[in-house]
Formats: sequence, structure tokens, C-alpha cells
Amino acid sequence: MYENTAALGFDNNSAESVNQHRVLSEMLDAHTTSALAGTGVGQGWRCWDIGAGGGSISRWLAARGAEVLATDIKPQHVTGDFEIRQHNVREDPIPVAEFDLIHARLVLMHLPEREAVLRALTGALKPGGTLVLGEFLCPSDDLVRQAPDERSARLVRKFNAAMRVLVTAAGCDWSWAARVPEAMREAGLERVEVSEYREDVAGGSPAMLLNFTNSHQLGDQLVAVGEITQDELTALRPLLLDPRLVARSYLLLTTVGRRPAAETLTPSA
Ligand SMILES: C[S@@+](CC[C@H](N)C(=O)[O-])C[C@H]1O[C@@H](n2cnc3c(N)ncnc32)[C@H](O)[C@@H]1O
Repeated sequence: MYENTAALGFDNNSAESVNQHRVLSEMLDAHTTSALAGTGVGQGWRCWDIGAGGGSISRWLAARGAEVLATDIKPQHVTGDFEIRQHNVREDPIPVAEFDLIHARLVLMHLPEREAVLRALTGALKPGGTLVLGEFLCPSDDLVRQAPDERSARLVRKFNAAMRVLVTAAGCDWSWAARVPEAMREAGLERVEVSEYREDVAGGSPAMLLNFTNSHQLGDQLVAVGEITQDELTALRPLLLDPRLVARSYLLLTTVGRRPAAETLTPSA
């Protein structure tokens, strides 16, 4: 059993993080922006994009005419004509009743105090404001659909198993995505809705390249988990570029909740 519960090795200081942000954007932005468009966001909305990563969603919001604040614990890859700030959502002050829309994708699932953060973000919404959280749900099923041969299929399954163990050991909550609607309602949000992104993808597609970039950025930690070797990771990478490999992508659940327009909600940290 892998006992090291140190933080997962995603780090915006690493060169690989640029690739990670690019493939996340190519894989997920069409889904995320569709959910965001459904909120009616546009001119004059004050928006906060938390854990903005490469900033693609912040730029999309700004292009709709919104007034955007983009924050990240390491915001150096965010570019755009809007306010960009270093901010740790676990520790730094969270404003009260300031935003029409708050968005965070693949951030809270990594934070041990995710429920308290959600409550604080609820308090950061203006009455009538909207919270949008996108999170991956645990891929418990076999993701491989087709592979060039059985050895290749086994390799991909080994990688997926190692990712599950590592991400869990690092304190991520893979079940959080499914609990977000309940947590939003408990925090006082209403009209909670969920939409899903998932597709079967071939080698070389953005969702497959997410595995490719993860295999680099998390390589040493994956090997430490004990379920895959460095040689197997080396053999895996060309396979992830091979269109004969077809696999299910991760499942992203995007949950939207609204703060009641007129109410006496008391934000708690
Ligand atoms: C998996 S990336 C997702 C990036 C972007 N939201 C996306 O979906 O493309 C997670 C991002 O959250 C940031 N992050 C991690 N912990 C954070 C914290 N405590 N406060 C703010 N940002 C954080 C990371 O630096 C990284 O940019």
C-alpha cells in the first residue's frame, strides 16, 4: 500500500504543466463553456475563476464581456486582459457577496477541506449568483474499449489502476464529484443541475493526451505507488498516441447551483 500522502505532483512550476493545461482545455472547454453559457453569463457579470491553470476559461468569460478575476496558487500561466492574482483558496480570505459567477474546474477534488471551501464560495456569491464546479468522478470501470493487442490493453489498465491509487493516496476525493449537488444544497444553493462530459477517444486525442502528460508529470510518483514501472510507462506513451487504442475518457461532472436571490444565507468558512 502506498502510504505517502504528500500532495499530488501537479505543479505549475513544472514545464509539463503547460501541456497539462492545454490538453485539459482541448478536452473539456467545449463542455464547460456550454454549462457556463447556460448560466447566462455576459456583460457586467463579476466572475471569479479559481485554480485557473492555463486561463482558457477565464479568457472565455472575458470574451463574453464579463469582468473576470482569475486566481491560482501558482498563476504564472494565466494570460489575458483581466485581473490575475495569486490566491490560495484553502487559506487566503474569500470575499463576501461579491461575485455573480464563481467557477472552479478540477480544483476542489484535490482539497481536503473541499466542503468548507464550497460553503465559503457560496458566501462569496451575490444573492442570485451562480457557482459552477467541474470535477472528475472515479473511473472504477475498465476504460479500455479497443487496443492493438492484449499486452497493450493490460498496460493501459495498469496505468489507470496506478493513477487511481496515487490520486487517492494524495488526498483527492474521487467520489466528491457525485456529492457536489448535495453539498451545494446543504450550503443553501438551489436549482442545482449536473451535466456530464465523457466520450470514447482514440490515441492522440486530447483526453488520451491527458494520460500522456500525467505519465510525465506524475511519473516518479506513479512508480512509487508500486503498480507500474518506469519501463512500462515508457512502453505506454507511444500507445497513447496510437489511434488503434480506444478508451473511455474520465467522466467530468459539472454542477451548477444558484444562491437564492433574496435570503438570509450566512456564509461560514
Ligand atoms: C488540475 S489543474 C486545473 C486547471 C484549470 N482549472 C483547468 O481545468 O484547466 C488545478 C489548478 O488548481 C490550482 N490549485 C491547486 N491548489 C490550489 C489552491 N489551494 N488554491 C488555488 N488554486 C489551486 C493548481 O495550481 C492548478 O492550476
